[in-house]
Amino acid sequence: MDFEGIIEKASNLLMDSNFTIGLTGAGISAESGIPTFRGKNGLWSKFKVEELATPEAFNRNPKLVWKWYKWRMEIIFNARPNAGHYALVELERLGILKCIVTQNVDGLHHLAGNKCVIELHGNIRRGRCIKCNYKVIFNEPPENIPPKCPKCFNLLRPDVVWFGEAIPKNELERAFNLFSKADLALVIGTSGIVQPAGYLPYIVKENGGLIIEINVEKSAITSIADIFIKDKASIALSKIVKYIKDKLTSKLYDASENEL
Ligand code: OAD
Repeated sequence: MDFEGIIEKASNLLMDSNFTIGLTGAGISAESGIPTFRGKNGLWSKFKVEELATPEAFNRNPKLVWKWYKWRMEIIFNARPNAGHYALVELERLGILKCIVTQNVDGLHHLAGNKCVIELHGNIRRGRCIKCNYKVIFNEPPENIPPKCPKCFNLLRPDVVWFGEAIPKNELERAFNLFSKADLALVIGTSGIVQPAGYLPYIVKENGGLIIEINVEKSAITSIADIFIKDKASIALSKIVKYIKDKLTSKLYDASENEL
């Protein structure tokens, strides 16, 4: 099947689905200029997880961890949602996409305008006190690092999930519930190897549902994908939304013709 044929098939499956849930990863934000984690230019090829993204690393050297997060915050605060994010807003507005479960901490789905977004790995725009759990929203990266809690003056940490930490209970339960109800999972820009996020599409598959995957290369989810669209998220998603809108418009047109 050629590329247009694949887009058409994916679009029709999306229109026929009753409950589509999205799973996104770093790939959807790559075109906003935010680095991904794996692959030859990924963050984990240049930095060590155990020095920057674990609770032990933070206990050992909070300033070093904050320095890295401040650098990432600077990139993210300057980034804007791209056509891929906006296409997902359209799919939600059309009533096709019920919710997005994201592993991204950049907040770009919210910024684009999606209403239902579950952030499994937290949000880099927030800090959390290591003692009293008070949460702080940052409108820009903190000037002095490590920043202090305005309530109890202990250290703030980035409000993200680090390796070796559990996903927040509420987010995890909501994600599992949504994927248990879904008859279609739209998986975009994730290597699918970090758990439990990578397992979520498998729930849909086990329940007899469908998987559409968009990625520039194969992932740990591709083997269960019913449709694999090998392209950038912004291109594939924009084409899908265009196809669906054109089809809905022509249906409306046909209906009004019949009324005359
Ligand atoms: P990865 O860096 O592991 O994977 C990014 C995926 O996006 C890869 O499969 C790429 O092929 C794909 N990709 C890159 N550019 C793309 C584009 N323009 N369009 C579509 N796909 C593209 O990122 P995640 O799967 O999100 O966790 O990583 C999962 C978790 O591992 C992250 O949330 C983070 C990381 O360590 C924590 O920090 C806890």
